[in-house]
Amino acid sequence: MIVLKSEDELRAMREAGRLVARTHAVVQAAIRPGITTASLDALAEEYIRNHGALSAFKGYNGYPSNICVSINEEVVHGIPGSRTLKEGDIVSIDIGAVVDGFYGDMARTYPVGEVSAEAEQLIAVTKKALAKGVAAAVAGNRLSDIGHAVQSYVEAHNLSVVRDFVGHGIGRSMHEAPQIPNFGRPGRGPRLKPGMVLAIEPMVNIGGWEVIVLSDNWTVVTADGSLSAHFEDTVAVTEDGPLILTQA
Ligand code: MF3
Ligand code: CO
Repeated sequence: MIVLKSEDELRAMREAGRLVARTHAVVQAAIRPGITTASLDALAEEYIRNHGALSAFKGYNGYPSNICVSINEEVVHGIPGSRTLKEGDIVSIDIGAVVDGFYGDMARTYPVGEVSAEAEQLIAVTKKALAKGVAAAVAGNRLSDIGHAVQSYVEAHNLSVVRDFVGHGIGRSMHEAPQIPNFGRPGRGPRLKPGMVLAIEPMVNIGGWEVIVLSDNWTVVTADGSLSAHFEDTVAVTEDGPLILTQA
């Protein structure tokens, strides 16, 4: 069952989204060669706590950190630690917070200094793929129209969409129904209605779509070692079209 949110609940979710977006800005500003991924985690932890909220990730199924930091061929769920960012890396930062009982979830891939032309294109296509998915989150459309919009755009640019991880409904839990694949035929699944809130999160690889999970049981990497990018926003379906809640 897909939970519909009231206007009041959407206002509360907008506050959660705002905090997550502001935390992203704080972390993004700290990205530079030489910084450890653990210090990015510490910055996020402090900012979220100072605003009376909690990380959505810490303790989730035993996840040990506040944010996920995934570098280069790492797709999602990279665990922060002593590794340092290097010039030319791309780094995917995923941040979730719970504010007054409501969740916000947002990811972005950032360049570290100057990156290769193909890394830059991967980031640009993944960002636009999220925009295409968001644009399909319109009342009256069907759920699979979102994934179809993402996949068509990505594959037109000769990149591939990860199949094994998907977006999700979000609200008083981080993960609610429905699951939102980033691929598929259009016109399938439930009809989208005002009040639905969806975390749409394309993960895009330069090589094949296949991924594997490392022995830490969290870090997901591309099977072929190619670069990967991840963009996610928490989006409400409204009478007036999609509303991105994860905006500062
Ligand atoms: N944005 C991810 C998701 O939607 C973050 C989960 S990381 C975890 O599932 F550590 F919390 F699992
Ligand atoms: Co998510």
